[in-house]
Amino acid sequence: MKIQSICCIGAGYVGGPTMAVIAKKCPDIKVTVVDINEARIAAWNDEDVEKIPVYEPGLPEVVAEARGRNLFFSTDVDKAIDEAQMIFISVNTPTKTYGEGKGQAADLKWIELCARQIARVAKGEKIVVEKSTLPVRTASTLKDILKHTGNGMNFQILSNPEFLAEGTAVDDLMAPDRVLIGGDQSEEGLKAINALVEVYARWVPKERILTTNVWSSELSKLTANAFLAQRVSSINSLSELCEHTEADVNEVSRAIGTDSRIGPKFLKASVGFGGSCFQKDILNLVYISRSYGLDEVADYWEQVIIMNDHQKKRFAKKVIRNLYNTVSGKKIAFLGWAFKKDTNDTRESAAIYVADHLLNEQSKVSVYDPKVTEQQIYSDLDYLGSRSSEENKASLSVGSDPYKVCEGAHAIAVLTEWDEFKTYDWKRIYDNMLKPAHVFDGRNIMDKKALKEIGFQVHSIGTADDN
Ligand code: NAD
Ligand code: UDX
Repeated sequence: MKIQSICCIGAGYVGGPTMAVIAKKCPDIKVTVVDINEARIAAWNDEDVEKIPVYEPGLPEVVAEARGRNLFFSTDVDKAIDEAQMIFISVNTPTKTYGEGKGQAADLKWIELCARQIARVAKGEKIVVEKSTLPVRTASTLKDILKHTGNGMNFQILSNPEFLAEGTAVDDLMAPDRVLIGGDQSEEGLKAINALVEVYARWVPKERILTTNVWSSELSKLTANAFLAQRVSSINSLSELCEHTEADVNEVSRAIGTDSRIGPKFLKASVGFGGSCFQKDILNLVYISRSYGLDEVADYWEQVIIMNDHQKKRFAKKVIRNLYNTVSGKKIAFLGWAFKKDTNDTRESAAIYVADHLLNEQSKVSVYDPKVTEQQIYSDLDYLGSRSSEENKASLSVGSDPYKVCEGAHAIAVLTEWDEFKTYDWKRIYDNMLKPAHVFDGRNIMDKKALKEIGFQVHSIGTADDN
């Protein structure tokens, strides 16, 4: 089957950029991205392409090129399903917040809703592609729902997990390390796999397109995220040891990263990993392992999360300890709220948990982030449910001028590694702070020596304080 029309359900951080790049690379394929969130679709259609809802370097250019030509954003889900030969499901699969598996299992209610909608609407031949990250064996649930359509639909299910990282999504999609496609190993299944291979082969070298069975593909996605997060937790665990031994975690990373068996990436000690994927996918792996009675396997992976929670808490405690064990009424300025640079996404950002800890100690927190809105910051805090919305508003403020946000503060906490933080006039910031003025660098991006020369007391991750 030669694919000429694609529909993607879910216009989020994955569906939007992924489909924009497919549309750019395959001008002859009509790509329609649908979502039930009307505001999100309206933003994707905004005349001003800088106002699309996902901030990603290079994305506005890709959208500008393809939108209206062969890339469309719509809320008419039924129509898009009906017209497409291939339907990607790219909806959210967050950790369950209720019932069985609460706090660990993936919540598949949106996936099931999609499957039921496809079952209701679709006719003829369809290829349904799991783009969302799903627990291993989800395809069998989808199959079960789809085969009860009564429409005589003939379908195949593929797993095509997405490996893009936010902040570099466009580059990752244009030149992926690999594309993974899992499908049924029957003749029909292999044909469906091949149809999707041919879409990616327009721009991805064939040797980078891996094909496999559905279950291996589903499990590989959870495994990839677990391995990446494990590296961050591993180096973060050693950062604490470094702080006690005068070893320098940056030097340790450099030394071990040059071993080609280990490699240099994902060895940056930090205030803790965030993002919508790592924690959710590891918790899911833990849940699946436990549900098969594999307690040792579950405990092993759970430790990655325990370490990450410890790292966030440890950072907040370090701030408090250095401010003479009390931050009550003291202003602490946050530079950064996003979970990493070059994204406006804040899901599971370490900043949220550090703020929560400091607010519990009655600190006054003031936040600046170049891409995150004030409304998002309050909604992240309110979601934790630690205090009322009014209390959050009274204790935390958000500013659009970093110099003002730092004015009168006892300490600055760098929580996201935005490049612009490095180029600020730090002497000006110092002059307007209370003394002693502290910088807690949660990302190890600042020029420690230069800041100390200005007069700051500087605290980094994974090096002993020598102020
Ligand atoms: P997201 O929350 O940004 O987007 C999901 C979208 O799906 C939302 O806009 C929501 O309104 C829409 N939606 C939900 N149910 C729907 C329905 N029934 N019909 C139509 N639209 C519906 O999520 P995301 O970050 O794009 O993640 C999507 C999936 O991709 C998840 O499974 C995630 O684990 C996976 N993933 C995410 C990343 C990442 O970096 N964010 C990377 C790889 C994989
Ligand atoms: C991750 C995976 O990298 C990607 O392949 C998958 O598709 C989705 O999940 P993402 O969460 O967007 O991508 O960003 P990533 O670059 O992996 O960073 C995750 C978190 O780890 C961030 O908070 C980041 O700051 C932190 N991190 C990363 C570190 O603290 N140290 C590192 O060395 C690398």
